[in-house]
Amino acid sequence: MAMKFAARTTELIDSPIGAAFAMLDHRVNDRPLLDLSQAAPGYSPAPIVLDRIAEAARESDTSRYPPAAGLVELRQEFATDLRRSYAASDITAADVTITAGCNQAFCATVNALAGPGDSIVLATPFYFNHEMWLQAEGIEVRYLGCTTELHPDLEEAATLIDDTTRAIMLVSPGNPTGVTLPVEVIADFVELAARRNIALILDETYRTFRPTEAPAHDGFDNPAWRTTLITLHSFSKDLAIPGYRVGAIVSGADHQREALKILDCVAIGAPRIGQEAVITGLRHARGWRREQAQRIARLQDHFVATMASAPGGFELVTSGAYFGWVRSNDQRSTDETVRRLIVELDTLVIPGTAFTTTDEGMLRFSFANLTPAEIDELGLRLATY
Ligand SMILES: Cc1ncc(COP(=O)(O)O)c(C=O)c1O
Repeated sequence: MAMKFAARTTELIDSPIGAAFAMLDHRVNDRPLLDLSQAAPGYSPAPIVLDRIAEAARESDTSRYPPAAGLVELRQEFATDLRRSYAASDITAADVTITAGCNQAFCATVNALAGPGDSIVLATPFYFNHEMWLQAEGIEVRYLGCTTELHPDLEEAATLIDDTTRAIMLVSPGNPTGVTLPVEVIADFVELAARRNIALILDETYRTFRPTEAPAHDGFDNPAWRTTLITLHSFSKDLAIPGYRVGAIVSGADHQREALKILDCVAIGAPRIGQEAVITGLRHARGWRREQAQRIARLQDHFVATMASAPGGFELVTSGAYFGWVRSNDQRSTDETVRRLIVELDTLVIPGTAFTTTDEGMLRFSFANLTPAEIDELGLRLATY
């Protein structure tokens, strides 16, 4: 008898990144690939962070288990960073839980709030790993539509909440759209969640890649934020250290206590060497972080200009952070369009169907992976589609 697998897992979609990579074997040309699939920084971490990693590797404490909620110095340093970024005086180290990346922050956050039989409202287009985890955990996903500006629809959200609902999930700047939600939109959602006694979870992975350094929201202004708001953070892109796996949850003590039970089971604590890297990055690489964000903003301008003529009928709908959300005018299925882009144009993108429940003819382009010259080449290749 062979082993059997859990239906919830076997019925999940495969990671769309892996599925896109699998198509590379069918390429017909012999020219360099333009890889716009994964949103991964293509540049090295700040030199001072690299030096600290090398140094930390030789320290005996680094190989020990870290405290479950993260190194105290990191929690303090990130609380300082948050107070500065949100002009919010009341965030302290006690509100910060360090995780092994923002994906783990999401999983632990959700498991603290919901289980089979409960529901979570997920704003579309959604980040595919969020949907996958909710499905894997047997939590009902209530898909929330968006407005023409690709903001989550507040009125519809109110109709999706019932006694089973534990949270509304938003991402800003969005993956896949790159759209930064206005402060007022986030405030309306915090207010709705507070009124309905559910959580508002906000994934802020790309916060430092917004076109402004103004506070991303005013959710921390109300002293009662800890009963409603949970924000999730990643250092993967901000410090270009996705391999060191560090993220954070910012939430009140009640949520933190439950989330820690889950974190303890899955990783005990986030990798200590990564936490050491982040302490140094937050303390000493602020200028470097800003420079990288500005460089990516310039790449975005270049990408927007390249897409302005809708080469090959590919129309840029929105862009921001690392992403362009692109409409194809090919009448075939989006999967077929993506296959053609890979096989014939050596251009690897992710089908929009990974982020939506129906095929809307959309594609996600992670332009931040490319150099300016590669963006020019992208325009030329798309024009031949
Ligand atoms: C919206 C969003 N959340 C979370 C993550 C994962 O971040 P981390 O590397 O910190 O787990 C990503 C990575 O692409 C993302 O796009």
